[in-house]
Amino acid sequence: MKQKVTVVGAGNVGATAAQRLAEKELCDVIVVDIIEGVPQGKSLDLTQAAPIEKHDAHLTGANSYEASANSDIVIITAGIPRKPGMSRDDLLSTNRGIIRSVTKEVVKYSPNAILIIVSNPLDAMCHVAMEESGFPKHKVIGMAGVLDSARFRAFISMELSVSVENIHALVMGGHGDTMVPLPRFSTVAGVPITELIPATRIEEMVTRTRNGGAEIVSLLKTGSAYYAPASAAVEMAESILKDKKKILPCAAYLTGEYGISDLFVGVPVKLGAKGIEQIIELKLSAEEQQALKKSASAVQELVDAMKKMA
Ligand code: NAI
Ligand code: 2OP
Repeated sequence: MKQKVTVVGAGNVGATAAQRLAEKELCDVIVVDIIEGVPQGKSLDLTQAAPIEKHDAHLTGANSYEASANSDIVIITAGIPRKPGMSRDDLLSTNRGIIRSVTKEVVKYSPNAILIIVSNPLDAMCHVAMEESGFPKHKVIGMAGVLDSARFRAFISMELSVSVENIHALVMGGHGDTMVPLPRFSTVAGVPITELIPATRIEEMVTRTRNGGAEIVSLLKTGSAYYAPASAAVEMAESILKDKKKILPCAAYLTGEYGISDLFVGVPVKLGAKGIEQIIELKLSAEEQQALKKSASAVQELVDAMKKMA
C-alpha cells in the first residue's frame, strides 16, 4: 500500500512540496488549505502533469481534514510568510493561532502521524505543534537546518566551482539571525572548508547563509523562498518514508543534549521510520557551543513571549 503524506497549506512551499513528493513517487499526497478551490485546483493541475512526469502518485485537494485520515506524515506549511522588512519573529502571533488550529485537526484524523513543521517562526511553531498534538518529541520535527545547510552548500559550491554533490555542510541552532553555520563540519569531498577557503571569505559566506532567507525575500518582494524550503521538507519526509536513517540537521526538542533543555533547536538527528531516532551530539568547540547557546536563547525568548500571549 502506498504511504500517505498530507501537506497543510497549498501556498508556495506547500504546493511545491506536494509537487516534489508526487514527482519522486514517494507517496499519495493530500493537500489541505482554507482557501476554497486552491488545494483542489493545484492538486488537479499536478495530477494532469503526472502522465508527462511519469508517476502514479495520487493527489487530492481539500478544505477539511477527512481526506487526510491516517497520514504517515503531515507537513505543516500553513501560515503567513515574510514580506520585506518583516522578520520571521513578526509572524509569531498570527502563525501560532494557525498552527494551533491546524494541529488540532491533523491529530484528530492522523493520531499516529509524524509532523514536519515548516511555518515560521520555525522553532517556536514546533513548540506549538508539540503542545497542541501531545505527540512524543521524536514525532514533531522542524524543517530549517536542511534548508540553511543547503544554502551554505550552494555558496560553497559557487565559491570553489565544485559539484554540490561533493559538499556537506552543517548549520545548527534556531532558524533565525543567530543560526550557527559550522565551517569545521562543512566539507568538500571530506576536506573541511577551513582548509580550502580563507577565514575572512568563510565569514562572508556564513553571513550570507544567515541572511539567506532575507536575501530571497528582498528579491521576491511578495513573499519568501519556497523551492529550496520544499526540497528540504521533502528530503526529511523521504528519509522517514523510506526509513533511510539519514543524518540531517532538524529542529528537535532537546532534553539536555548540548546542555539545552525543553527547547526546539536545530541539531543533527537521525531520521527514520520512527521519526527522530537519535540526536547526534557533536563535540563542539567552546566558541561553537557559545554560539549555539546564544541561538537557543533567541528561541527561548520567543517561547517565553508566547507564554505571555492569551
Ligand atoms: P504562502 O502564503 O504561499 O502559503 C501559505 C498557505 O497557508 C496559504 O495558501 C494559506 O491559505 C494557507 N493557510 C493559512 N491559514 C491556514 C489554515 N488555518 N489552514 C490551512 N491553510 C492555511 O506561504 P509560503 O511561502 O508557502 O510559506 C508558508 C510558511 O512557511 C510561512 O510561515 C513561511 O514563513 C514558512 N517558511 C518556513 C521556512 C523554513 O525554513 N522553516 C522556509 C520557507 C517558508
Ligand atoms: C527562509 O529561510 C523564510 O524561513 C524562510 O527562507
